[in-house]
Amino acid sequence: MNTLLKQEMSNYTSTDLEVWEILFNRQIGNLQSKGSVHYLDALNKMSDVLNASEVPDFSKLNDFFSQNTGWEIAVVPGLIPVEDFFDLLANKKFCSSTWLRTKENLDYLEEPDMFHDIFGHIPLLGNPIFSAFAHEFGKIGKSMKHNELALVQLQRLYWFTIEFGVIRECDIKSYGAGIMSSFGETNRIANKECEFLPFDIEMILNKEFWTDRLQEEYVVIESLDDLFNCLPKAAKLIGV
Ligand SMILES: [Fe+2]
Repeated sequence: MNTLLKQEMSNYTSTDLEVWEILFNRQIGNLQSKGSVHYLDALNKMSDVLNASEVPDFSKLNDFFSQNTGWEIAVVPGLIPVEDFFDLLANKKFCSSTWLRTKENLDYLEEPDMFHDIFGHIPLLGNPIFSAFAHEFGKIGKSMKHNELALVQLQRLYWFTIEFGVIRECDIKSYGAGIMSSFGETNRIANKECEFLPFDIEMILNKEFWTDRLQEEYVVIESLDDLFNCLPKAAKLIGV
């Protein structure tokens, strides 16, 4: 795949900055009581490079990670083939787009934009346990790239954890990027307008999901350790 894509900071307009600021401030306020403490701590630690007052500069985020968990942001044009995605993840490269939604469409997106990719996904990669999970998950995916069923099952694991996972803290709190970057979905979960299922790796690997509507069921982990600790069993079940 083309690995030469680059973020051009000079392409962002004052309207982009305004949109970023609105989204960031609205959601950071919303998450204080609804987001996992692990996510909020991780975001706080990177506040010099990820905040409301500037469009995130990937080179600054990469500098931050080079002193921490070692991730790097790979610029992608949009959704990419799953094999390429796992190759990148196995090399501690996390994909992000560089475009931002418009002011008229703050809450509706057909494809993930930079607010989803960066605000939603990036902070927890600074948490050592979550980082180890994401990296190991990528390595398993890379090793199974010719096994179609295994890739589908791993996408389910990704979906119910990294994308739409929730965690039991004093109450159910959100940590998945699809929730963290969505004002409405964060509130829906906090209001418990959905079902919560206990974390069970075998169930997840066999559970279908849909991408064209809100989730009806979310899987609850008891701690971030559940994620890393499920991987040996996941690997065995998919046939690594
Ligand atoms: Fe995502």
